[in-house]
Amino acid sequence: MDTENFQIAPSILAADFNILGAQIAELEKNGIEMLHIDVMDGMFVPSISFGFPVISSIRKECRMFFDVHLMIERPERYVKEFVISGADSITVHAEACEDLNQTIDLIHDSGVKCGIALNPETEIERVLPYLEKTDMILVMSVRPGFGGQRFREETLKKAEFLRDLRSEEKHHFFIEMDGGINKRTKEMAINSGVDILVAGTAVFSGDISENVRIMGGSTYAFRKHSFR
Ligand code: DX5
Ligand code: ZN
Repeated sequence: MDTENFQIAPSILAADFNILGAQIAELEKNGIEMLHIDVMDGMFVPSISFGFPVISSIRKECRMFFDVHLMIERPERYVKEFVISGADSITVHAEACEDLNQTIDLIHDSGVKCGIALNPETEIERVLPYLEKTDMILVMSVRPGFGGQRFREETLKKAEFLRDLRSEEKHHFFIEMDGGINKRTKEMAINSGVDILVAGTAVFSGDISENVRIMGGSTYAFRKHSFR
C-alpha cells in the first residue's frame, strides 16, 4: 500500500466507558471506519478489559468495521461468540493458540476476517507458514495488556520484512501496528509498510475530533483496498 493509503483504527480500550456510545458516534462522524476492540482475559495479559456484552451493545448503534483483538488464552474457544457479538475480524495471538492453522480456519469458517498478532519478542518466523491464508498480521509495537505505553521502534523491522515479503511473494494480507501510535510514530509505521494503525491514547485523550484530524487516515482512499 502506498503512504497516503492508511487506516486509523481507534482502540476503545482508551475510551471513557461512561460515555462510550457518544465517543464512538464522534469517531464515525469524523469518518473513522474501523474500530479496534481490545479483549483481555487477565491470563494471556495481566489485565482484564471487556467482552461480549460490550461488543454486542455497541454493535447495535455502530456501522464501523469491528477489528477485535483477542489477548486471551486459547481464543479458539470463543470465536463463535465474538462473531455473534458483532466482530468483523478476529485477531488472535500466535503465542496463545494451540493450533494456529485450525484457529485461522475456524475464524474463516465463521464468516469473518482473520488476523495473527505477534508480541514484540516473538520472531516473525512464527507467522511465515500462514501468510497465504491470513487477512492481516498485527505487529505489536508494545507488550500487550495496556494502553499508553512507549512505541518500540525495533518492531518496525518486522513490518518492513512483511511488506517486502508480501510484494515478493504476492500475498494479500494487511499489516497492522498496535501500541504507542501517535502523530510522530505513525509516520515511521507508514514508511515501514503498515496499512492499519491502531491508536488508543492518541485518539481518545483530549478532543477526539481534533485528534482524528491530526492522525488523518485517508479513509476514503483506503476503502479501495479496504480490509472488509
Ligand atoms: C494493548 C492494546 C493496544 C492499546 C493501544 O494491549 O492491544 O490496542 O490499547 O493503546 P495506545 O494507542 O494508547 O498505545
Ligand atoms: Zn490492540
